Amino acid sequence: MEHLPQKYRQLFPTVQTHTMLASCSQSALAEPVSRAIKDYHDSLLHMGTNWNEAIEKTESARNEFAKLIGAEPDEIAIVPSVSDALVSAASSLSVFGKKHVVYTEMDFPSVSHVWQAQSDYTVSVIPSIDGELPLEQYETYIMDETVLTCVPHVHYRDGFVQDVKAIAEITQRKGSLLFVDAYQSAGHIPIDVKAWGVDMLAAGTRKYLLGIPGMAFLYVRKELADALKPKTSAWFGWESGFEAAYAKGARRFQTGTPAFISVYAAAAALSLLNHIGVSHIRDHVKTICADACQYAAEKGLQLAAAPSGEQPGMVAIRDERALETAALLKKKKVICAPRDAVIRLAPHFYNTKDELRHAIDEIAAKTIHM
Ligand SMILES: Cc1ncc(COP(=O)(O)O)c(C=O)c1O
Repeated sequence: MEHLPQKYRQLFPTVQTHTMLASCSQSALAEPVSRAIKDYHDSLLHMGTNWNEAIEKTESARNEFAKLIGAEPDEIAIVPSVSDALVSAASSLSVFGKKHVVYTEMDFPSVSHVWQAQSDYTVSVIPSIDGELPLEQYETYIMDETVLTCVPHVHYRDGFVQDVKAIAEITQRKGSLLFVDAYQSAGHIPIDVKAWGVDMLAAGTRKYLLGIPGMAFLYVRKELADALKPKTSAWFGWESGFEAAYAKGARRFQTGTPAFISVYAAAAALSLLNHIGVSHIRDHVKTICADACQYAAEKGLQLAAAPSGEQPGMVAIRDERALETAALLKKKKVICAPRDAVIRLAPHFYNTKDELRHAIDEIAAKTIHM
């Protein structure tokens, strides 16, 4: 199962000098992605203009993301961030005449911020129980009046993985649309929007998608997209850019010129991910995380994730001084991602079992000497 890092590590200069375990925040920069960023820069420097090339690259990033999640390119909008994707989704729901929204305690805080700002909607927040979101909770909280249910595919703080297909069965039966925040899963856990019955899904490029900030994708199921009139829409979301009609499909959720430099990075990064195959990445990440969870427990560290459920693709370790620990680890060239009172070790296909064990040794040594 170690063959992925053996095959691909040489593409990542930083992993030669650092233990890079922060893919839930920012993954390591791959050489093809670095070259793509430079290509954008150089095209401006040497050609003076690169609009047509940048538009082509935008379509290539869209196609690659569509492939990654089992969608059609027309079902993908290019937006600046996952938060923007949700704002756009929220701006399109008035056609349904329903004013109740459900989201979960495990959603990223942005989800709550977006709905607080939409003061004409009432919200219900599904609480987690022992670190999980049991399906019965969805049965209880989603009502006839619920227009949209927002769920994270993976919890940003401990990696808890939800069964999106099972949730979609509930939202469909209850007449609610389903919005999936896949920012913590896209790139290391396979996603199949059609097989799962997802209505909308968003993911940004800088975490497991191997890109840089400034860009995210919003999937909207085609038949649904064509029926919606998002209020956040402008010339990149209109036919030919200038006609007085919304573009077909999810493109109508677009506004202005995308951050082309991020688009170049995303096109190269997604092409690499699709070439490797996310199911292979999932197998590898799952195996090394399972080993690391056991190793951390043996070292007396407390894991943040619930012990039952699907193996998370990160190792989340409880630590009241997570920020301080992360700063100490950084001095030793171990890059992890602290969040609240948790240290997240989030590997990707370029990481090895030994790297995770090394990070755990460092955390355990720090905890003992405190
Ligand atoms: C699960 C999840 N959703 C949303 C966000 C916010 O994304 P953005 O800054 O692109 O709005 C994050 C950022 O860490 C996240 O982890």
